[in-house]
Amino acid sequence: MSQIRGRFEKDADERAESYTASIQYDWRLYPYDIAGSIAHARMLGRQGIITEQEAETIIGGLNAVREEIEQGSFEFRPELEDIHMNIEARLIEKVGEVGGKLHTARSRNDQVALDMRLFARDAILRAVEALRRLQKALVDVAGANKGVVMPGYTHLQRAQPVLLAHHLLAYFEMLERDIGRFKCSRKRTDILPLGSGALAGVAYQIDRESVAKELGFDQVSRNSIDAVSDRDFLLEYGSAASICMMHLSRLAEEVVLWSSAEFDFVEVDDAYATGSSIMPQKKNPDVAELARGKTGRAYGNLMSLLTMMKGLPLAYDRDMQEDKEAFFDTVDTLLATLDVCAGMVSTLRVKPESTARAVRQGHLLATDLADYLVKKGEPFRSAHDAVARLVARAAREGKALDGLKLSEYREFSPRFGEDVFSISVESSLAARDHVGGTAPKRVEQALAEAKKRLANR
Ligand code: ARG
Repeated sequence: MSQIRGRFEKDADERAESYTASIQYDWRLYPYDIAGSIAHARMLGRQGIITEQEAETIIGGLNAVREEIEQGSFEFRPELEDIHMNIEARLIEKVGEVGGKLHTARSRNDQVALDMRLFARDAILRAVEALRRLQKALVDVAGANKGVVMPGYTHLQRAQPVLLAHHLLAYFEMLERDIGRFKCSRKRTDILPLGSGALAGVAYQIDRESVAKELGFDQVSRNSIDAVSDRDFLLEYGSAASICMMHLSRLAEEVVLWSSAEFDFVEVDDAYATGSSIMPQKKNPDVAELARGKTGRAYGNLMSLLTMMKGLPLAYDRDMQEDKEAFFDTVDTLLATLDVCAGMVSTLRVKPESTARAVRQGHLLATDLADYLVKKGEPFRSAHDAVARLVARAAREGKALDGLKLSEYREFSPRFGEDVFSISVESSLAARDHVGGTAPKRVEQALAEAKKRLANR
């Protein structure tokens, strides 16, 4: 048996055959393809479309084929195009003609849609689990470094003091939204397309609900034409994965920056660093750089899938075979990146003296000085102006803000009093005392809530 050539008078051109084959990558669908076929065969037997005995024989054969694949003795044949044909051909070799009854009331169009949905459903679960592991790593590092202060940045300029834990929990929130996106896409993935046939449905008394139940699907598709041509669930995974990779890339970028001598906020564990082939002193954050670099794959794959779909007339078109490599690559890239980032984050060594030193340079309490004047009755705009001039003066003289005398402060506003010297990094943090702020007790609460969320699911 080679490709389906029933009505043709010639064999396929070798180039055409290799051009259309997908077995090199879609072999990965085998567990899903076999699970789907078993559920289908059982249903055919129950409905009397084939005999129960025939169904049993087919199911036994499919299980044996799965074992061959798992043991590595299965021979994948490119001339059989894809995983569906490879499995079916081997089934027929093993159980004889009756194996040819498996494809009753089915088309490869609904079969491949089913396989991809089963694959995507697992990929969603695995992404959510990997996201949780990274969230836990963030919570652990935040919890182990509760008192550590660092500069918060805007425009990559030191802006205001924040707790390192607060900064890390920002990533916890991003990942929380990622989890939400994956879970939400699951609702639209968890739909059984089988029974749609090539496109119009099938001319047999099938029982789709029972197949859905056996395969653990929430629903059956409501329109056969849509069911064989819908790949939205792959696009949703691809966009959730792209957004998630963007988050990971930002985290990675901060690890790269923070581990440089210029920042010196953290040290990447040796297990997650790489040396240079020429410069013996180098310790490079290659894992973080690759996480950042691989983000483009997810975006590119999403773009490929969107472009692949945009001009397709209903229903199935062979273009859609191109969904696989793009999707598999996104899944592999995302899961590997989440995994390695969890390891890298959980082994980061924070350097609290360094981060505290950075907080002391760059007049990070200027906003607090303006707020001080506001509390003494100054409108914020003119308070901002007075402090800006004060900062310029301190900078000119190479002094810190608390290195100026009260008389000097008063040159910029008569509202300054002795109590201005009670403004400190600690008072600045503590003042941001509301939900979402960096006050230590708020961060403590946020940390406790984050832990609770991790424990409750
Ligand atoms: N390998 C094909 C794919 O991935 C399976 C469906 C083939 N259907 C067809 N009508 N040729 O899309």
